[in-house]
Amino acid sequence: EGARPIPGPKPYPVIGNLLDMPSGRMMQRLLELSKQYGPMFVLHAADGPRYIAFGLDMIDDLCDDTRFVKYVGAGQRELRKTQASAGLFTADSDDPLWKSAHDILLPAFSQRSIRAYVPLMVDIADQLLLKWERLNPGEAVDVTGDMTRLTLDTIALCGFGYRFNSFYRDTQHPFVAAMMGGLSESQARQRIPPAVVKIRRRAQRKLEADMRYMQDTVQMILDERRASGDPGEDLLGHMLVGKDKDGKVLPDENIVSQCITFLVAGHETTSGLLSFAISYLLKAPEVVARAQAEVDEVLGTDLGVAPTAAQIGKPTYTTQILEETLRLWPTAPAFSRQPLEDTTVGGYEFRAGTPIVAASIVLHRNTDVWGADAWEFNPDHFAVEAREGRPANAYKPFGSGVRACIGRQFALQEAILVLAMVLQRFELIDHANYQLKIKESLTLKPDGLTIQVKERAGRT
Ligand code: HEM
Repeated sequence: EGARPIPGPKPYPVIGNLLDMPSGRMMQRLLELSKQYGPMFVLHAADGPRYIAFGLDMIDDLCDDTRFVKYVGAGQRELRKTQASAGLFTADSDDPLWKSAHDILLPAFSQRSIRAYVPLMVDIADQLLLKWERLNPGEAVDVTGDMTRLTLDTIALCGFGYRFNSFYRDTQHPFVAAMMGGLSESQARQRIPPAVVKIRRRAQRKLEADMRYMQDTVQMILDERRASGDPGEDLLGHMLVGKDKDGKVLPDENIVSQCITFLVAGHETTSGLLSFAISYLLKAPEVVARAQAEVDEVLGTDLGVAPTAAQIGKPTYTTQILEETLRLWPTAPAFSRQPLEDTTVGGYEFRAGTPIVAASIVLHRNTDVWGADAWEFNPDHFAVEAREGRPANAYKPFGSGVRACIGRQFALQEAILVLAMVLQRFELIDHANYQLKIKESLTLKPDGLTIQVKERAGRT
């Protein structure tokens, strides 16, 4: 910490700012605090200060890859402990395997490559639509639950050719149960002192068993794939044949970690995005009307014809809805950075290695950038004219630089496809007069969102 003090709520003796870090409400608290303190403030936690930055010039600093690198935070470190080999998301930036995996996977996630997944994405989207079509009048949809089924099934199918068939079961697939178990345990551990973690033997055994189950399952899929002689076109296929700059392939245990990482990093974020988008649409009939007009024009009214990659590339207003949703509720609401050398951020001095949180959720509500209605849902914030001249780092829902989200195009393609297909078929009915409530865990989601759907007239 430099000469000039960084503002923030007054810390109490012993507990510091603990009361300003409520578990399950942290991001909402940051939004409240940002109205009083900014563009950077500090919270004092038991293990040291947390610097929260959201001023535009500060984000510019933090996103400068020549001066800052990703800081793998406590939650991500816990996740990494469960992996035999670190996946892209949890690896340190100087981990040579991160670089190899990044180089091998980047082309696999390019706009061109992911077009090949459209039929697979449609396959899963059709399962969701069929489920919704078959509801009796008066039955409600658990939006977040169904979107999670959809995104999990999609990433497993496109990632390594595996079907969870979540729409066909009442209980989670054992793999999904193991993953959720592992995630919640590694989340819980952040709040438990290390000495206590050690004596929780049963929790430890369950975590190990869950992890082993996932790793063994993916390894089996990998072995079968290799034995078949056809690597395939999915992400696993790319990893089986891909070589890094030195001509080396990824070790099996790293490939396995990457597959599990895609599920973890890709499913909640995308399902949260789709759920938030629907929560906003419930309250914005004029936005729905515009989106439906666009979708009808691009996809037509014949429901028997599956959307193509070229069509998904087209709906621009639908894309704006999703971008606007990620502006207000970036489902991964922040990312952490650390300076490589002693430096300043927005005039404050920091030592090399100090973690600093780039709070995208706050950054995204800057009235200087988005105007007086920065806290309101308005997809026109992403109209072509509105984008012009906007600062490069004003919008960061996918993180930044080389450590930005590798699945970004994948997520957007999936979300556009699903939202367009939903709007093509259904009117969304706000049967319970939904009031947005945020559920914070690893990511953000709307809590308790249910809707009813009615098939639109004139579809065949
Ligand atoms: C990284 C957001 C979907 C895979 C990230 C990061 C963010 C993010 C903010 C940076 C994390 C950090 O700096 O600590 C999102 C959002 C998504 C989404 C908002 C959906 C709306 C996906 C999908 C996949 C994926 C679908 C996989 C198919 C990854 C991976 C990383 C990552 C592997 C780590 C990249 C690296 O460090 O090399 N994501 N993500 N994400 N995401 Fe996503």
